[in-house]
Amino acid sequence: MNLSQTNLSLPYILSLILLTISLADKSFCIRFPDRITNTVQDPPDHPLNTAVFALGCFWRSEAVFGCLNGVVRTTVGYAGGSKTNPDYRSLGDHAESVQVEYDPRLITFRELLEVFWSSHDCRQVFGQGPDVGNQYRWKCLQPAAIICKLLLVNRSIIFTNGTDEFRLAALSKEKEQMKSKSSIVATQIQKLGTFYPAEPEHQKFELKRNPFLLQLMGNLPEEELEKSSVAAKLNSYAAELCPPNVQKLIDVKINDIIRKGWPILRDV
Ligand SMILES: *[C@@H]1O[C@H](CO)[C@@H](O)[C@H](O)[C@H]1NC(C)=O
Ligand SMILES: *[C@@H]1O[C@H](CO)[C@@H](O)[C@H](O)[C@H]1NC(C)=O
Repeated sequence: MNLSQTNLSLPYILSLILLTISLADKSFCIRFPDRITNTVQDPPDHPLNTAVFALGCFWRSEAVFGCLNGVVRTTVGYAGGSKTNPDYRSLGDHAESVQVEYDPRLITFRELLEVFWSSHDCRQVFGQGPDVGNQYRWKCLQPAAIICKLLLVNRSIIFTNGTDEFRLAALSKEKEQMKSKSSIVATQIQKLGTFYPAEPEHQKFELKRNPFLLQLMGNLPEEELEKSSVAAKLNSYAAELCPPNVQKLIDVKINDIIRKGWPILRDV
């Protein structure tokens, strides 16, 4: 009696254990998908180049560059001024900027410049009345981040690392100016000094407004989110700034994941 009970219960216990393991395994994958993501996102072993641009509200600027093929990482921050350790509430003479780390074999500085010029209106210069800064700040906090772009549009700067980039930037500005003589291109070209990364809450801002997407990525910890190429791309996707075909492709992937119930989006 005792023996047969043991015989019966052993497979039962075994299958229970197996079931527990498989469940634990599954929940492990769901809770820590960043471990999988890590291997996918290992930075390429050849050096990346870095470019910094200011083109208005940095929430949007980051999304402008994040979806480009060859862009590996994006970071928002403050540059172009002299104040040390600026922050969002007091950026001093700095401009909201985006730092773009890119693989020069896939995209060039010249191509980034084209994106820069096509992504904002560099011509409207607004007076710097006593409250323009505040007005900008106020507008930028509204859900429609696009509005803030209009108000700080003259904080438009191409940062360069030296003569070659300076030459390319100056040429591209000339070309832009040629398009219309009736207004002046206000964009400045500056040698990059210190780039101060902005506070975490401003990084991947568009993506963070979409908790569902964050969840699909497995709720990566902040440091990983900031370094992630997938997050940079999805940040653009969330702002609808990826090219239409890429937007569609990501839609398809997301729908696929939802259908399968497997909540990890690790490459796009
Ligand atoms: C400056 O950037 C260019 C890419 O635009 C790169 O090829 C070059 O190595 C950089 N120079 C320095 C000194 O970092
Ligand atoms: C923006 O415009 C104001 C007033 O026209 C000017 O004082 C300021 O230097 C400009 N900023 C940039 C970055 O061009």
